[in-house]
Amino acid sequence: MQKQKLCCLCPSLVLFLFSSALLSSGAELCNPTEKEALLEIKHSLGNPHIMRSWTPNTDCCKSWYKVVCDSQTNRVIWLKVQFSHLVGQISPAIGHLTSLQIVSFYKLPNLYGTIPQSITNLKNLQFLELSYTNLSGPIPLCLTQMHSLTDLFLTGNQFSGSIPPSLVQLANLENLSLDRNKLTGSIPETFGSFKNPILDLQLSRNQLSGTIPKSLANGNFSTLDLSRNKIAGDAAFLFGNGNLYGIYLNGNSLSFDFSNVKKFYEFLMHIDISRNKIYGRIPTSLTKLKYLNYLNVSYNSLCGPIPTGGLLQSFNETSYFHNKCLCGAPLPPCK
Ligand SMILES: *[C@@H]1O[C@H](CO)[C@@H](O)[C@H](O)[C@H]1NC(C)=O
Ligand SMILES: *[C@@H]1O[C@H](CO)[C@@H](O)[C@H](O)[C@H]1NC(C)=O
Ligand SMILES: *[C@@H]1O[C@H](CO)[C@@H](O)[C@H](O)[C@H]1NC(C)=O
Ligand SMILES: *[C@@H]1O[C@H](CO)[C@@H](O)[C@H](O)[C@H]1NC(C)=O
Ligand SMILES: *[C@@H]1O[C@H](CO)[C@@H](O)[C@H](O)[C@H]1NC(C)=O
Repeated sequence: MQKQKLCCLCPSLVLFLFSSALLSSGAELCNPTEKEALLEIKHSLGNPHIMRSWTPNTDCCKSWYKVVCDSQTNRVIWLKVQFSHLVGQISPAIGHLTSLQIVSFYKLPNLYGTIPQSITNLKNLQFLELSYTNLSGPIPLCLTQMHSLTDLFLTGNQFSGSIPPSLVQLANLENLSLDRNKLTGSIPETFGSFKNPILDLQLSRNQLSGTIPKSLANGNFSTLDLSRNKIAGDAAFLFGNGNLYGIYLNGNSLSFDFSNVKKFYEFLMHIDISRNKIYGRIPTSLTKLKYLNYLNVSYNSLCGPIPTGGLLQSFNETSYFHNKCLCGAPLPPCK
């Protein structure tokens, strides 16, 4: 028994000795230029405790926290800095990590400054997340040169200024989240011409104003979240959008006749138009939606009977209350 156990240990012991011999012989995988850039990034973030494994005499491809290298090229492909109260900025040195595919700076409330321009050197970057930090300044125009991007999350920062119309050039985007910032101006007209087969567009909780461009009727949005802005005018043309599963327009100043909605996309699941100035009747065609599992038309100026049939009576009165003169189940009967 004892003997067998020892034998089992032998191969791994040999492997261990072999690999430590390799290490001590200096077979470092980390690219020296990239190591230097990473150490500059660490310095610029105030040498935080979470990065204590990032030291000059260790291999960035082997033991550095949240750094991943490609197994063939040994270049850094992932960089994640998350959940810390570190105080600092993103160093422009990030532009030297040209093989990066995934970058995430997430939940860092004391990360300040702007997005360094050098980030556009990252031609292989597919996923860029700079969310829930204190980054500020405009959304850099140069982001539109990053053609590999599939996911761009800039949620929950202090970004200001208007939305660059040229973001439409990012032809591989599947998610564009600019929500919870201080963006002003209107939704770019270009946003109706994304070439992408499908796009989840999140613009909620900014200070966007103006009207919704008519061009958005042709967009391929899976989710369109424009909620909690200062958007006015018509939105009746949006609901027929192919691929649209969720539409959130709540908390704006939209003002149009709801019965002007000619077509609802048949697979729509979520509709929130609450807290606007929408008037007219609830269109009967809403009863045809078989997959609707969230509806909220409350706090508007709607009138007339709630159409019966379909799923409209499966929602409670809080989906309909605070309108001008809506009536019928689940609200009190019409007079
Ligand atoms: C965030 O940045 C703003 C300026 O853009 C500054 O006034 C504020 O104190 C910063 N907050 C934190 C938590 O660093
Ligand atoms: C990104 O977009 C895709 C396609 O629209 C969607 O399925 C996915 O849930 C999105 N990812 C996130 C993190 O929102
Ligand atoms: C929307 O996506 C579909 C595929 O899902 C595609 O056939 C169509 O051309 C796209 N529309 C636009 C305007 O890009
Ligand atoms: C109404 O429905 C919502 C969503 O299902 C639920 O969260 C809420 O508690 C309900 N309110 C009442 C008063 O029944
Ligand atoms: C609908 O929206 C209103 C206003 O924000 C809210 O009070 C109500 O609870 C919501 N109802 C549901 C079912 O979510």
